[in-house]
Amino acid sequence: MEGAGEVGGAPEASGTAPVSSGELFRSRFGGEPDGVWLAPGRANLMGEHTDYNDGYVLPFALGQGVTAAAAGRPGPGSRQLTLCSRQEPAATVQIALDGLAPGQVTGWAAYPAGVAWALEAAGYPVPGACIAIDSDLPAGAGLSSSAALECATALALTGLAQTGLAQTGLAGQAIPRRELAAIARRAENEFVGVPTGIMDQSASLLSQAGHALLLDCRSLDTSQVPFDPAAAEATLLLINTRAKHELSDGEYGQRRAECEEAARRLGVSSLRSLTTPAEADKLADPVLRRRARHVVADNQRVLDVVALLSAPLAPSGQHSPVDIYRDIGQLLTESHASLRDDFEISWPEADATVEAALAAGAFGARMMGGGFGGSVLALVPATAAGPVRDAVTAAFARHAWTPPEFLDAVPSASARRLALAPGPRAQGDMVAPDHRAGLSRRAQPEARRPEEETVPVRDEAAKLAGEIAELRHAIHREPEIGLDLPKTQAKVLDALSGLPLEISTGQALSSVTAVLRGGRRSGAGPVVLLRGDMDALPVTEETGLPYASAVPGAMHACGHDLHTAMLAGAAKLLCARQADLPGTVIFMFQPGEEGYAGARHMISEGVLDAAGQRPVAAYALHVTSNKLPCGMFSTRPGPMLAAADQIRVTVHGRGGHASQPHRAADPIPVAAEMVLAFQTLVTRKFDVFDPIVITVGSFHAGTTDNVIPDRARFLATARSYSAASRASLAELVPRLIKGIALSHGLHADVEYAAEYPVTVNDAAEAAFATATIADAFGPGRGETAEFPITGAEDFSFVLNEVPGAFVFLGACPPDRDPESAPTNHSALALFDDAALAEGTALYAELALRRLAQG
Ligand code: GLA
Repeated sequence: MEGAGEVGGAPEASGTAPVSSGELFRSRFGGEPDGVWLAPGRANLMGEHTDYNDGYVLPFALGQGVTAAAAGRPGPGSRQLTLCSRQEPAATVQIALDGLAPGQVTGWAAYPAGVAWALEAAGYPVPGACIAIDSDLPAGAGLSSSAALECATALALTGLAQTGLAQTGLAGQAIPRRELAAIARRAENEFVGVPTGIMDQSASLLSQAGHALLLDCRSLDTSQVPFDPAAAEATLLLINTRAKHELSDGEYGQRRAECEEAARRLGVSSLRSLTTPAEADKLADPVLRRRARHVVADNQRVLDVVALLSAPLAPSGQHSPVDIYRDIGQLLTESHASLRDDFEISWPEADATVEAALAAGAFGARMMGGGFGGSVLALVPATAAGPVRDAVTAAFARHAWTPPEFLDAVPSASARRLALAPGPRAQGDMVAPDHRAGLSRRAQPEARRPEEETVPVRDEAAKLAGEIAELRHAIHREPEIGLDLPKTQAKVLDALSGLPLEISTGQALSSVTAVLRGGRRSGAGPVVLLRGDMDALPVTEETGLPYASAVPGAMHACGHDLHTAMLAGAAKLLCARQADLPGTVIFMFQPGEEGYAGARHMISEGVLDAAGQRPVAAYALHVTSNKLPCGMFSTRPGPMLAAADQIRVTVHGRGGHASQPHRAADPIPVAAEMVLAFQTLVTRKFDVFDPIVITVGSFHAGTTDNVIPDRARFLATARSYSAASRASLAELVPRLIKGIALSHGLHADVEYAAEYPVTVNDAAEAAFATATIADAFGPGRGETAEFPITGAEDFSFVLNEVPGAFVFLGACPPDRDPESAPTNHSALALFDDAALAEGTALYAELALRRLAQG
C-alpha cells in the first residue's frame, strides 16, 4: 500500500491461513459485524501522474481489495472508532471522533481515521464503530491499497450511519460515489498528508466489471470503456517487482510541485491545457520541460487507448481485436519510456521487467502508479503469458533480486457491500467465500462474487429493446411539432393496443393517458405517474441517420421520440406484472413540451385525476445527447431546471432624420440601455446563490442608417430557480424598463410573460430515484448533479402538484465525446438506442418500487 500508513507488510501468498475480516471482527471484538464492505484496489491502463494535472486517466478496479467488517457502537460514550487490521496483528487502535484533527493519528490507522474526519467535515456525521480490516492486495505494490482502505471505511461508515438514521441525521440519503471519492481523497491529502490525485479513489468507487474507467480529472466526468482483453485472447499481467512503492517519501510531491511550476511558467492553470508536446518545449528549464512533455503525451495516450477500445472492427478483419491490443501494447511501452526518461520515476526492476516481457512476446508493458517501486502492467497474448512469466523471473534471478510476484488483473466491479455467505452465516461469516480465495492473490471472475441480486426488470427491458427501438425510429421518421401530433398519437395507441389499460385521449391536444390498475390490492394501493413527452422541434435534421426525419423543418432533436418509446415499453413491462402490482400507474404521453405547455393542458384536462385518486409521486426521464455518457443517470434534490419566462418590450420614440437626433426621440439608445441594465439588475438585485439569467435574444429597430425609427422592440428570456426570484423578476423588470424610458422622455410597453415554472425535485423522491438507480443498475450509473440546468421543462407543472423527480439519462453515442458532442436541439444531435432499454427499465423500476412503498 502506498504512503506512510500501509496496511501492514505484505502477507505471504502461500502458507498463510486466509482469515476474513468477519472472522477477525469476531475474534477481536466478539459478536457479529453489521456488514462487510469491499473496496477494490486498482490497476491503471494509461495516464500516469496526469490526475493532479487535471488530465485523463484510464484505471480499472481489480478483483483484489480491502474488506472492512464493521458494527456501530450505539449508546453514550460511543463516539469512538476502534480499528484492527489482520495485516497489523499487534495493534487495536482507539480513536476519539470528537475533536479529531489531522496530525493526531499516524500509521495505517490514519487512513480510516482520516475518512471519518473528512466525512464529518463534509457534513456527514459518523457513528462510533468497531472496524476489522483485511486485505488481499500486496502492500507496496502500487495497487492503491491506501485508497481501497479509505473507500472500504467510507462505505462501512456511511452504511452504518444509514442504519442509525435518527442518531446520524443522514436521512437515509446515500452519499453520491463521486462525492465519496472526493471525501476519501481529502482524507489522504489533508489528514494523512500525501498530495495524491483523485484517480485511485475514483477507480475503487466508480469502476464497472469488464470496463476501464475514463476519468476526466478536470470535469470529473467519467465514462465506462468496455475492456475485455480475454475476448482478444490477451491477458493482463500485473507483475509486482517487490521494490516497495512509497508515496510519502517526497518524490511524488516533488513531481507534483514540478508540474505545477511548469504550468505556472507557461501561464496555464494546469498542464492539461497543453495539447501538443511543442507547447511543453517552450519551457526553458529542461527538467520542467521533460515533466510537462510526459503529461501531455500520457493524456493523449489515454485518449488513443480509449479510441482503440471503442473503434469498430473493420469487416474484412484488417483491424482485428489482436491488432487493437497490439496497438494498445505499443502505447503502454511508449508510456513506460516517457515515465522512465521524461518523468524519471521508473526503477531498475521495472525497466528489466518491461524489457524481458517485450522480448518474450508481450504486446507492451509499462510501470504503473506513483513510481520508484510497485508493479508493472503487461499486456500479453494469452499464449505468451507463460513465457513472459518465465522471462521476467529469469531476469530477476540474474540480478539476484527477490523473485517477482504475478497477479491476474481482471477489470472488476467497484466497492460494495458483500452479501452474506450462505452456510457459514450460521457461524457469522459475512465475507464472500471467493473473496477468501482471493487471498491466493488471483483475481476471481466478477460473476463469482455473490453480491447484488440480479434485477429481472432490466433483463425484461433488454428483451424489449428491439421493439422499443422500432417504435422510436418510426416516431423519429415522422416528427410533429406542438400540441397536435396525430401521427405520433396513433403510433402510441397502436403500441398500447391489447394491453390491459384504460386509455383516453385529449380534447384540446393529442395526448394519450393510460391507466394500469394493479391486481394486488384490488384498487386500494397508491398511484404513481410516469410522463413521456412526444413532440419534436422546428429543426431540419442533418444527422444522416437511416431513420432520419422525413419531414423538412421538423426533427426529434430533443429525444422525445426516445421518451415516448421508453414509456410505451415500460407500459408493456408493467402490464406483464399487473397481477402483482400493488397500486395504479398513470402513463402520461404528452404533446407540446417545447414551448406549448402541453403538461398544463393535460392537467386541466384531468390527467392527475385519471386514476380516481391523486398520484403519490410522478417521474419523468429526459435523454441528453451530450454531457452524460450513455446509460448514466443524473438527478438532484431541489431545483433541477430553471423557470423560463419571456420579456417583451417595445420602446416608443419619435422617428426623424438621423442627422438631427435632437429633433426626434430615438428609441434605439434607450432600448440598448435597457439591454445593458438587465445585467446590472441581475447582479445587484439578486442573491448570487439564487442565480438569474437574462438574455436578450431578439432585437429589432429601424430600416436604414439615416432614419431614426419610431420604435425598437426586443425579446428576452429570463431564467430563475426559485419562486421568490421569479416573483421579483416579474416586478422589477417592468419597473426598470418603464423607468429608463421615462427618464429619456419616452414610453415603453413591457410584458413579463410567465411561461414554465422552476422544475423542483422533491428531496425524498430524488433520493428514492437515486437509490433505485444504484440498486437496479449497480454502482457508478447514477450521479447527483451538482447544479441545476438552465433549460426549462413543463413537467414543472406536474411537480407543482405532485412530489416527484425529473431524471436525466445520458444517450451520447459511445463514439462521441460527451463533452463536445452536439447538444439537444442541434440538427446534428444523436441519441443512442442503447439508452432505450435502460430508460424503460428505470421507468418500470420507479413505478414498481414506489408502489411497493405505499
Ligand atoms: C498514485 C496516486 C494517484 C496518481 C498515481 C500516478 O497512485 O495516488 O493519484 O497520481 O500515483 O498516476
